[in-house]
Amino acid sequence: MTQGSAVGLAERLGQRINDSGPLRFSAFMDAALYDDEAGFYASGGRAGRGGDFLTSVEVGPLFGAVVARAIDRWWDELGRPAPFTIVDAGAGPGTLARAVLAASSECARAGALDYVAVERSDAQRAGHPTGITSSATMPAAPITGVVIANELADNLPFDIAVWDGGWRLATVGWQSGRFVELLAPMPDDLAPLAACLPVKAAHGARAPLAVGAASWLRDALNRVARGRVVLIDYAATTATLAARPWRDWLRTYRGHERGAHPLLDPGTQDITADVPLDQCAAVLRPPDTSSTQAAFLNRHGINELVAEGKRIWAERAHIGDLIAMQARSRLRESDALTDPAGLGAFTVAEWLVR
Ligand SMILES: C[S@@+](CC[C@H](N)C(=O)[O-])C[C@H]1O[C@@H](n2cnc3c(N)ncnc32)[C@H](O)[C@@H]1O
Repeated sequence: MTQGSAVGLAERLGQRINDSGPLRFSAFMDAALYDDEAGFYASGGRAGRGGDFLTSVEVGPLFGAVVARAIDRWWDELGRPAPFTIVDAGAGPGTLARAVLAASSECARAGALDYVAVERSDAQRAGHPTGITSSATMPAAPITGVVIANELADNLPFDIAVWDGGWRLATVGWQSGRFVELLAPMPDDLAPLAACLPVKAAHGARAPLAVGAASWLRDALNRVARGRVVLIDYAATTATLAARPWRDWLRTYRGHERGAHPLLDPGTQDITADVPLDQCAAVLRPPDTSSTQAAFLNRHGINELVAEGKRIWAERAHIGDLIAMQARSRLRESDALTDPAGLGAFTVAEWLVR
């Protein structure tokens, strides 16, 4: 990221506002994260220890090993079709793909697994491993299989409702070379999402309107002929979010640190929000199952993988090779992935398509 490109993006957005009027926050966020030249994800922002934030996928290979077991169960439940397509949506640099392939699921050994990593950012797609399909867009033909999205929905553009005697829309203006917030009437097209807002709130209360997540989910459901869509993310209800301080649910990140105000320096920091899944349920349909990440991982055998890790460590500790180290690391990874005050509290929502 060069300072020049970030300044360029701010000026381009400012020009756009001068030409066509204030932007919705969702449009500002879309440019700040995904502008082809200077968006945060286009210019090097990424998950991982060396990146800007740590996801379950980046904790280590255990998360992918559990997902590989889930894939086998889902494959089995559908009668072991071939191909069985896994669409890893918002795949980042392909870390989940690597872990799933390394876990060597039965579905993969049978030659049925067709793994498609869908990632919008060219820079991140460049890191995808061989042996999978890497794509900027979702598969065109409906799949038999599973669309799985880990920490994608929180990064999809959202709008912001503000209580000012009634719910109004926060838009982004450009004044004296700075972005400023301007309140506007709530537009009709946001009414279905805004219907989830509480009837009253404290003056200045805010809540996200999940335009990007709802439209992504609608599209994902349409692309599954038989199977499921699995969304894993930090989620909450709209009413809960409206009652919380807004900087608590609307977060910015840069190099593992909390970032600046979301209207500052577009392109230089990640912008993310807790996902109001009740809005997706209201405009589409409620998930068929919803559980915590800890419960999901338990259901798909994380404890067995940890027990196996302990056994391998006991056998190979004296050798101290990579296999021994990876086995020992499962215990630490499991603690992080199931932490009830952290990743373990994430929501795993599943929509079945039969
Ligand atoms: C928070 S990262 C999560 C990466 C990975 N799933 C993980 O758990 O580490 C979100 C990723 O989704 C990508 N993304 C955002 N919108 C997308 C879209 N519509 N289609 C595909 N990828 C998208 C971003 O570029 C980014 O790499």
